[in-house]
Amino acid sequence: MKAIKPHLPALPDYPYTTAQALIKLDQNESPYGLPAELKAELASRLAELPLNRYPRMHAETLAERIADFEGWPESGVVVGPGSNTIIFALVAAAQNILDVQPSFVHYEHSAHLLGAPYKAVLLREGFELPVEEIQQALSEGEPGVFFLPNPHTPTGAFFALERVAAIAQTAAAEEWLMVVDEAYYQFAPADMKRQAQGELHLAILRTFSKAWGLAGARAGYLLASDEVARVVRNLLPPFGVPSLTVLAVELALEHPGYVAEAVEKVRRERDRVYLELKAHPVWDAYPSHTNFLLIRTPDAEAAYQGLLKRGVLVRRQDHIPGLEGAIRVTIGTPVENDAFLQAAFELAKEEWGKEKEPDDATGED
Ligand SMILES: Cc1ncc(COP(=O)(O)O)c(C=O)c1O
Repeated sequence: MKAIKPHLPALPDYPYTTAQALIKLDQNESPYGLPAELKAELASRLAELPLNRYPRMHAETLAERIADFEGWPESGVVVGPGSNTIIFALVAAAQNILDVQPSFVHYEHSAHLLGAPYKAVLLREGFELPVEEIQQALSEGEPGVFFLPNPHTPTGAFFALERVAAIAQTAAAEEWLMVVDEAYYQFAPADMKRQAQGELHLAILRTFSKAWGLAGARAGYLLASDEVARVVRNLLPPFGVPSLTVLAVELALEHPGYVAEAVEKVRRERDRVYLELKAHPVWDAYPSHTNFLLIRTPDAEAAYQGLLKRGVLVRRQDHIPGLEGAIRVTIGTPVENDAFLQAAFELAKEEWGKEKEPDDATGED
């Protein structure tokens, strides 16, 4: 079709397929969501919401609340209906894209859609951050936007801040914009917000979809310099954050205590599931600083289907180079995690003929 840019029809769809299952552990959502009393409060505020009116052009009232919450100048806060939309706007703004591999697929997918030149540096063995190789790539190429998810997805790894900061220094010297995507920062030991304050070449991306339990509301934000924030805002559709979203997120920001509680429960469960999986005779889980675990299996299709047959939906990752056989499981409630573990061990027996390993095999890392 001549009306459409010729590269677009040939591009693959976004790599996500879903299936019906009793236990949904495939999108790194929070198993908890808003507490019941906040849901009731939301319902009563909803009754007063003037849905006949447009929301503010760039969710200014919500941006102000986020600025207060984060201790960031309001002029540097960009709110979007999901951090995905902000990634898309950043890619639209960028001369070039630099990424790591494996990575969050939306960076590369957006680059291909928008026709932005795209390059990626491979993570080292054990998903270690290749600092020197990234610095080299930043020095060689024309400047653009460098995306780094930390904690890293889809592996769950956490890159030490000194190493991330060393890259940020090079990015600034070479006039790149480095965006640290902190979608999972609440589950990790540290974050880069302080280092980004007052920096033109470093920005932080966050979301309400994970720890806040508001994936359905669709809201994310960028903490950036005024200059970068203005450009990104202009690339987002005007009036793009629905009033319903603003209502839910503003309410959540008034009660952030529920998030800390949910994060604590998820972290505890993540460490329990990781430890229990050490006794799995055929699968290997990687350590995680997020709300999910990446697991290496001999056959991702067999693992995915076997779990689904037992009512547990996970996400395949084996299409990603370097992640052959991998699946990713979100940490759910203790009951959901037990169901996943039970299914995982049943499958080991049925599919691979192996029994759970004895306790003394679970000691080392
Ligand atoms: C690293 C990372 N960034 C961004 C997002 C997108 O989040 P949102 O729901 O805010 O669009 C995700 C979602 O899975 C993610 O894993």
